[in-house]
Amino acid sequence: MSERQRLFVALDLPADVRGALAGWAERAAPQGVRRVPEENLHVTLAFLGSRSREEAEAVAALLPVVAAPVGELRTAGALWLAPRPPGVLTVALEHSDALTALHRSLAGALADAAGYAPEQRRVRAHVTVARVPRGARVRVREPTEQPPALAFAPAGLTLYRSRTGPGGSRYEPLARAEL
Ligand code: 2AM
Repeated sequence: MSERQRLFVALDLPADVRGALAGWAERAAPQGVRRVPEENLHVTLAFLGSRSREEAEAVAALLPVVAAPVGELRTAGALWLAPRPPGVLTVALEHSDALTALHRSLAGALADAAGYAPEQRRVRAHVTVARVPRGARVRVREPTEQPPALAFAPAGLTLYRSRTGPGGSRYEPLARAEL
């Protein structure tokens, strides 16, 4: 049986943006939530779940085909997603139609290449900065300060393999396309 891999495709954030968002989460996220390590911060465009090596190769091959600049993204406040029960604390991102178009073309290409079933909801670009641990009771509250105002253009579209372990998730880049 071929090895399965847990895969997702994400926009990469500039290092200074990751640093600023991780610093903010460190200060402002409520007690009891687990901060996402700085090096793991990204903007998920498609979560593929468990996939074969062949599917991973097919996805890697389509990245340069769909890659296109998404313009500038801007932080737009803190946002809890899946609020009941609390799921993840994110920083919402404002974006232009270029990101919506990339999201759509990526989803279409993934559907053709790997049987991906795209979410029907409109893309809600965000960076997840903290997660409520499973089974934990955390009082959802507004962060103690607003996220920093940042504007930036992502430079890459990356296929990641997520490996979970005792120390948390590790994301291994398998393929990357410049934007
Ligand atoms: P998000 O936290 O950005 O919303 C790697 O695990 C990434 O894939 C995460 O950043 C997460 O997106 C997304 N992800 C993980 N599990 C998922 C699931 N079951 N459904 C949708 N997206 C998921």
